[in-house]
Amino acid sequence: MTDISRKETTAGVDCGGCSLHDALNAPAAIERREFLRAGALALASLGLLGLGARSADAMEVREVSPLSPTHTDGRAEKRYPIPAVDGASIDKDNDVIVARAAGKVYAFALSCPHQNTALRWNADEKLFTCPKHKSHYRADGSFIDGRSTRDMDRLAVRKDGQTLVVDVDTLYQQDLNAAQWAAAFITG
Ligand code: FES
Repeated sequence: MTDISRKETTAGVDCGGCSLHDALNAPAAIERREFLRAGALALASLGLLGLGARSADAMEVREVSPLSPTHTDGRAEKRYPIPAVDGASIDKDNDVIVARAAGKVYAFALSCPHQNTALRWNADEKLFTCPKHKSHYRADGSFIDGRSTRDMDRLAVRKDGQTLVVDVDTLYQQDLNAAQWAAAFITG
């Protein structure tokens, strides 16, 4: 299990009408720098790993880049266009997955919650898959089957006009931060 330290979120974040106002100002957000390091290792190992048991042809990696880096109140934020259609894109440089499902937009850590392997998006089956131990997750990050013991980790998000703003340092684990995890989305 990765050693994850906790941090307190900064009070008084101006979320501009975000659905996560309470969550962003609540305690129990998780420091994500350890995850970013682990994710980098996982990405480095991708070339050594075969595709999952499901069809390799169905694997789609759409890459997305942040619009511009911003730093508000010392927090590391990345901005992305809000996806117009359901699906998922990966920002490999920042270990972020941006996904839209049923009108809700999420940001996930790229790392599998089990042992930090980089997850993949299967566009045909609309599932995230882990190539290491074959865990599967729905597009909203909820766990389906495999060795993982929780849903995909979500990042704190807010909406700024037509932009999705992701706090890449604030990660919510479904089993430890249930309320924040459940609220970590915007409507597209
Ligand atoms: S690392 Fe993903 S299921 Fe084990």
